[in-house]
Amino acid sequence: MTCGAGGALNVTLKTILDPGDEVLILAPYFVEYIFYVDNHGGTTKTVHTRADSFQLDIDAIEAAIGPKTRAIIINSPNNPTGVIYPPEDLKSLGDMLERKEKELNRTLFVLSDEPYARLTYDQATVPCIFSYVRNAIIVTSHSKDLALPGERIGYLAANPAMDDVDKFMEGAIFCNRVLGFVNAPALMQRLISGLQEESVDIGDYQAKRDVLYNHLTSLGFRMVKPQGGFYLFPESPLEDDVAFARLTQEHRVLVVPGQGFGAPGYFRIAYCVPMETIRASLPAWEKIARDAGLI
Ligand SMILES: Cc1ncc(COP(=O)(O)O)c(C=O)c1O
Repeated sequence: MTCGAGGALNVTLKTILDPGDEVLILAPYFVEYIFYVDNHGGTTKTVHTRADSFQLDIDAIEAAIGPKTRAIIINSPNNPTGVIYPPEDLKSLGDMLERKEKELNRTLFVLSDEPYARLTYDQATVPCIFSYVRNAIIVTSHSKDLALPGERIGYLAANPAMDDVDKFMEGAIFCNRVLGFVNAPALMQRLISGLQEESVDIGDYQAKRDVLYNHLTSLGFRMVKPQGGFYLFPESPLEDDVAFARLTQEHRVLVVPGQGFGAPGYFRIAYCVPMETIRASLPAWEKIARDAGLI
């Protein structure tokens, strides 16, 4: 167990990286990945997901793998796009990695960052990465599914079929200690063991997604409908997404420019706020759409 998914990512990266190792991150990405990799002497290489769908581009990932690559971080359901990677794409990823591992004579890990795995909509589910990728590690937390971000409770899990899995686990336990986490909060470890079947009311998040998605698309904003998580990632109607974020601010709506996620030309909305806040923003979105030339 770890101090959240952030702790689990840092523990894992410290365990597997040698100085100069490369980690592939998929844009749009959770920006902290860059800093986490840097913490442990690694460098990141960005690979873009598919422009139309934000799904995995296996050929682009394969082309980015080189002699220094050690890992790929994937995040499904994704922050900021809300997409879930389907089993067939995870299988293609796993098959490609097996091939590249043989070619390079090097272990290539997949870090599957899944804190939103229980926040899915329209009967979507998140496939278990272990069924498709042998050298896979799941990192997750209860920050989102039990809405306990301040309690810093999560875990990492290594695929039992991984090469040298015992060595990895020993390394992870040691790294948790030497990074100064020492252990995940003890009281929370006991509490959440009884809450494994529980999660926040998904219906509540889905209602928020639907109100915003329906309103924004009716105003001409274009976006992929999220299958999970609590974010929308529409195209920015202005070429400069920072300028667009400033415009929304004038209407007291706070969004994050896409360039912060390695995806200029988009912006992120977080809908993990009360429904009254979302409803109160709807007239402002109409004004924003008008100012940005959508209507
Ligand atoms: C994709 C992703 N990974 C990891 C984290 C870190 O979560 P935790 O609070 O469990 O450290 C977050 C939090 O926003 C996130 O969005």
